[in-house]
Amino acid sequence: MGIRIRNVAVIGAGTMGHGIAQVFAMKGYNVNLLDISEDILKKALQNIEWSLSKFVEKKRLRKEDAEATLSRIKTTTIYEEAVKDVDLAIEAVPENLELKKKIFMKIDGIAPPHTILATNTSTLSITEMGKVTKRPDKTVGMHWFNPPQLMQLIEVVRGEQTSNETVETIMNLSRDLGKTPILCKKDVRGFIVNRVLGAVFNEAFWTYYRGEASKEGIDSSVKFSGGFPMGWFELCDFVGLDIAYEVGKILYQAYGERFKPCPEVIEPLVKEGKLGQKTGIGFYDWSKGRPRIPFELSDEYDYERSWAVAVNESAWLVYEEVADPDSIDTGMKLGTGWPQGPCEYADRKGLNTVLEKLKQLYGKYKMEMYNPCPLLVEYVNNGWTGRAAGRGFYKY
Ligand SMILES: NC(=O)c1ccc[n+]([C@@H]2O[C@H](COP(=O)([O-])OP(=O)(O)OC[C@H]3O[C@@H](n4cnc5c(N)ncnc54)[C@H](O)[C@@H]3O)[C@@H](O)[C@H]2O)c1
Repeated sequence: MGIRIRNVAVIGAGTMGHGIAQVFAMKGYNVNLLDISEDILKKALQNIEWSLSKFVEKKRLRKEDAEATLSRIKTTTIYEEAVKDVDLAIEAVPENLELKKKIFMKIDGIAPPHTILATNTSTLSITEMGKVTKRPDKTVGMHWFNPPQLMQLIEVVRGEQTSNETVETIMNLSRDLGKTPILCKKDVRGFIVNRVLGAVFNEAFWTYYRGEASKEGIDSSVKFSGGFPMGWFELCDFVGLDIAYEVGKILYQAYGERFKPCPEVIEPLVKEGKLGQKTGIGFYDWSKGRPRIPFELSDEYDYERSWAVAVNESAWLVYEEVADPDSIDTGMKLGTGWPQGPCEYADRKGLNTVLEKLKQLYGKYKMEMYNPCPLLVEYVNNGWTGRAAGRGFYKY
């Protein structure tokens, strides 16, 4: 169901835009890639060529298909040319609501009536962007992960007025691109993945701030005992401290005390311009490559605490009907490489065990992040404690 997409405009050819354009073109879509200068577009095309050459080198793409991919991408700085006959326009310009609204308004005035307007925003309101157009039913969030060429996940976000047809079109389109879409049913801040990750980061920051564990100890425990692909501080460096800091503030505004930001951990580093891997230094020194996380410290931090807050935030997502357990689990596995999703984890561990852990932490620290979501309490009261009981987040 939904409309058939053939021609696509990608607005903004930066880190995300050039990768998104490449994915579409690799799958046979015609792409108009727009940015504000020819120089930027030239650089974007060079990046695409480089990435395609890697695919060819790794024998994941034939040389002639790489050439065909490139021939399907047209670049322009003129909106009229970019969007006048496309079925979908997706914007990946900087994270600024006023700028995105201006662009949506402009596209809305030029594009044919059937064109879907999608945004790659990580944090802003899809509904607000839709409101400035005459087609709020055809505006939608299509949130890719970096780098788009390699990451499997796309979060499809429904704005308040987004139609079922638009949602379905973008879900199907994502599958056709070889990606796995998950549906964020409400236009909430942080969508799914950044909300759960934000909770886990915050727990780690507070633990570090209180002096209960070192950042190396937390990362070592999470990685070597918990089986996560990266420690939280390492991952934060990788994402960019500026981005993690902004997302943290947005989550606090949206959800209050549950996301109370920890002072003195990220902020001073951001002010010093130590933004992580991209600046060569953040929590760790990246100047000589990936930091070494010391294996010896792998029992310094109780990584079950990370799971406890991840499960709690997942319970809030289910409770508020933002996401299904399956979407949350898929999101965390494909978006961040977790070995299992938080709902799967809770169902294996026992929701009663996780609830006890949260109660114990809440009693000790009196912080809202540990205050159990009513859904967890309700499930445990019903005897829905997980896999062994035949029902938890999932039915067995
Ligand atoms: N970088 C990530 O990891 C990541 C991941 C997911 C989502 N996002 C989101 O994707 C969006 C883009 O992020 P990015 O990291 O690619 O940013 P970027 O700064 O690398 O790229 C933005 C591009 O938009 C162009 N631009 C600016 N104003 C424009 C205009 N008026 N018209 C057309 N193009 C314009 C810029 O010249 C630049 O090339 C943001 O909303 C961000 O939140 C980023």
